[in-house]
Amino acid sequence: MAFGSESVLELLHAWDGRGVVVRHDAATGTWIFVAIHDDTLGPAVGGCRMKVYPRPEEGLRDALRLAEGMTLKWAAAGVPFGGGKAVLAIPRKLDKEERRGLLHRFGELLNTLGGAYATGPDLGTTPEDMKVIGLVSDHVSGLPRGEGWPDDPGPFTALGVFAGIKAALRHRRGTHALDGVKILIQGVGGVGEPLARRLARGGATVLLTDVDEAKAFSLAVELGGSGISPEIAYDTQCDVYAPCAVGATLNADTISHLECEIVAGSANNQLETPEDAERLAARGILYAPDFIINAGGAMAFGLLHHGLATPEEIEDRVLGIGDTLDDVFHEARELGVGPLEAARRRAARRLHRPGDASP
Ligand code: PHE
Repeated sequence: MAFGSESVLELLHAWDGRGVVVRHDAATGTWIFVAIHDDTLGPAVGGCRMKVYPRPEEGLRDALRLAEGMTLKWAAAGVPFGGGKAVLAIPRKLDKEERRGLLHRFGELLNTLGGAYATGPDLGTTPEDMKVIGLVSDHVSGLPRGEGWPDDPGPFTALGVFAGIKAALRHRRGTHALDGVKILIQGVGGVGEPLARRLARGGATVLLTDVDEAKAFSLAVELGGSGISPEIAYDTQCDVYAPCAVGATLNADTISHLECEIVAGSANNQLETPEDAERLAARGILYAPDFIINAGGAMAFGLLHHGLATPEEIEDRVLGIGDTLDDVFHEARELGVGPLEAARRRAARRLHRPGDASP
């Protein structure tokens, strides 16, 4: 079966989650998928992705994979939530009023789920969108609840990736010095842009690429780096490749092109298939497992939600992602497995599935 060509029933048959809620929003022609993967640690929470897919089934596929990723992310980050994700598979870019209407109806759908799933921002949705949903539903994670509460998880995700890149450099080179280190950031959106700024401030040379080329090039000029056209991104020599946009950018084809030592970025589901972890290892590339390194935003919001940290403590907690990655890399080395396997085992332990290393 070709990648991405599965039918709805095939997708559901192959999935081990709790369940999926599907609704067609006739007013905008949007397919809404709410995937609840696991509720062992708490009610499912995860962002809401809004995107045009070639086929709605691919939106469902994304929702299923992303929800599973959230299960692992919450577990590994030690936040008592379950894994879930929503995808709004829009047929085309919506205008402002259409978008508002869709978000309200999505909020009403969340109300019928009664708290089994709460949403948050993700690729294609913004903190503003969350406020719109929040007008009709309480099931929105991370709406500011007072002075000093952040409303945008992006900069926290970027902070965690920053700490993670340094951990990967330490593991690989024995030093996390950023001076002159070339870091290719793919996607300069809500996470990629703050990450690029932080890395450039730290002395790294940033190479920026984005489907919006003008945006990548102008930010590169501002930060003293270089803009890279998307067509040549995978062939560009760098020390660290940081995918910070869509998933599945690491596959048999791209991995054979990569000219880097480390893959460490914020995108969810970076590997197209689990075998891609082995492909990276075979090329001598160190992989920072996505659900560990990209947990910063979710972690910040989750800890605040549960009162497990104050807004003042959040940055330090997110920086701890660097220590977590240190542990993962060491454990992988000790056990003779790859970092993805070590990270999955870590999450499985938290999910009380000691015998199940690949939830
Ligand atoms: N979109 C975030 C992620 O993929 C998840 C998130 C959920 C962020 C809830 C904030 C609040 O990690």
